[in-house]
Amino acid sequence: MVKELLLSLLLMKTLFTGQYCIKLDKTDSTNSHLIELLATDNLPEGAVVITKKQERGRGQRGTNWESESGKNLTLSILLKPTFLKPDEQFVLSKAIAVAVADFIISLIPRPLSLASVKIKWPNDIYIGNKKVAGILIENSVSGNSLCHSIIGIGINVNQEKFSAELLNPTSMKLETGKEFHLEECFEQLCSCIEKRYLQLRNHSKEIDSDYLKNIYRFDEWANYNYKGEIIKARIIGVSKIGKLVLEREGGEVLECDVKEISFL
Ligand code: BTN
Repeated sequence: MVKELLLSLLLMKTLFTGQYCIKLDKTDSTNSHLIELLATDNLPEGAVVITKKQERGRGQRGTNWESESGKNLTLSILLKPTFLKPDEQFVLSKAIAVAVADFIISLIPRPLSLASVKIKWPNDIYIGNKKVAGILIENSVSGNSLCHSIIGIGINVNQEKFSAELLNPTSMKLETGKEFHLEECFEQLCSCIEKRYLQLRNHSKEIDSDYLKNIYRFDEWANYNYKGEIIKARIIGVSKIGKLVLEREGGEVLECDVKEISFL
C-alpha cells in the first residue's frame, strides 16, 4: 500500500483529491469500505478508495450497482464540506454531477460529447438516452454542518455487455468504439472533481448554471409517471433543495422529489 500511495503522489495533478489512494483488487462496496475506515482512521480530505471489483456495489434507493471486474471506474472519495449546512446537501450533489459530466465530455469526441452528455436529474450521467455513470453520496452531519461526505462514483468505461435487467446502460467504449486507460481516467476524474469542489467552496455560481444547462430533457415535452398518473410535462428547473420543477400541459407547476416522479 505504501508503494501505491507514493506512486499516486508522483502522478496526480491535484492538490488533494486522490493524493491518498487505497487501491484494492476487490471489496464489497467502496462506499462501505471508506465508511468503515473512517470509523477508526483519521483520513485526509480527498482520500480515495478504488477497486477493480465490487462484490456488493450499492446504488441509489437501495439498488445494486453492477460493474464488470477490471473494466470500469468504481471508487469513493472522502470530502469534508464543513462549509455546507445540512440543508445545502444538494449543491454538493450538483457539483459532483457536473464534475462527472465534465470528465466524460473531456474524454469523448467533441460533437458527440457536447450534444449528448447530460445529467439526468438528480445526478445520473447520460450519453444520449443511456446511463453511463451513477453517483451515490452519503453525508454525515455534525451540529449545523456537513462533516463528512462519501462520494461514490461508478462510471462504465470499457464494459461492452450488460445484464438484460438493466434499463438502459451504456459505456464510454460502447459510445466511442475506443478502449480507455483506467489509470489516466482516474487521474482526470480526480482533477474534474477537485475543480468543481473548489468552485463550490468559493461559492461560484458556475455550478448552478452548468447543472441546469446540462439537464437531460430540459424544456422538452415528455411523458412522466407522477404519483402513479401518466402526465405530459416539461422540466423548467430544479429547486434549491433539489426538487424537480415541471410544467404540466395546461400550465400547472409541479415540484417533485425522487419518490414522486419517474421518467418514461
Ligand atoms: C446509482 O446510480 O444508483 C448510483 C451508483 C453508485 C455506484 C458507485 S460504484 C462506487 C461506489 N460504491 C458503491 O457501493 N456505490 C458507488
